[in-house]
Amino acid sequence: MNSAASGAQTAPASARPAGVRSAGSGPPLIEIRHVSKSYTRGEQVVPVLTDINLDVGRGEFVALMGPSGSGKSTLLNLIAGIDKPDAGQIAINGEDITQLGEGDLAGWRAASVGFIFQFYNLMPVLNAFENVELPLLLTALSRAERRARVEMTLALVGLSDRMDHRPNELSGGQQQRVAIARAIVSDPLLLIADEPTGDLDRTSAAEVLALLRRLNEELDKTIVMVTHDPRAAEAARHLIYLDKGQLTDTSPFAAHGA
Ligand SMILES: Nc1ncnc2c1ncn2[C@@H]1O[C@H](COP(=O)(O)OP(=O)(O)O)[C@@H](O)[C@H]1O
Ligand SMILES: [Mg+2]
Repeated sequence: MNSAASGAQTAPASARPAGVRSAGSGPPLIEIRHVSKSYTRGEQVVPVLTDINLDVGRGEFVALMGPSGSGKSTLLNLIAGIDKPDAGQIAINGEDITQLGEGDLAGWRAASVGFIFQFYNLMPVLNAFENVELPLLLTALSRAERRARVEMTLALVGLSDRMDHRPNELSGGQQQRVAIARAIVSDPLLLIADEPTGDLDRTSAAEVLALLRRLNEELDKTIVMVTHDPRAAEAARHLIYLDKGQLTDTSPFAAHGA
């Protein structure tokens, strides 16, 4: 579809507002234009994001850092279609999701985005298999097809031998790998992770980061990850800072494996 054959096809610079760009081949997967978001507390309007512009290329792995309260989770929720901006456009794969109604947005989200949380958000009464199967219950897949998908995905995250374990019978790192399996079982374009290693010990964090990198490198998943952990940020290809409502800086890391 979007094979990177032609390197010359770059949009004219004039078509893009000043902002942060994380390169990739072809048109960006995520195009954020003039996005603002504020919250109202009583009479007071608290601006969180102010005229944000950001491109994220296909196949990118971006780490988003910034002080607590700077709006990182707010930005992730806007990209994932969980929340809507007050102003501006967010196009994902060419579709402006800010124009979608609630029902269409929920459908788009189920098909297009996998979300990974700091505290896993698994259903405690369901085992690993059932947790990963949940998003597939909304699809037209047969029971046998669902089983095959879930087993393949749990194998991918290295948990084939834990399928019938409930979350409280799994370590934090294993729970996060179940949550990652749940996020990718529908084969979404985009993975959004909000501090995915924030609650993990160093070894488990390293395993989760290695898994995210594999999903990026081998399965071409585009990943946007908020993190406070410099080691987590190093797993990404690009680093973006959010501070005082603005994306203030970006510094590319060395290319993977190069
Ligand atoms: N639902 C909400 N209602 C009111 N204020 C909110 C809400 N969500 C976040 N905020 C405020 O918006 C700011 C940014 O929050 P957040 O995006 O969670 O920051 P971060 O993830 O960078 O720590 C904070 O000041 C927070 O208190
Ligand atoms: Mg946050």
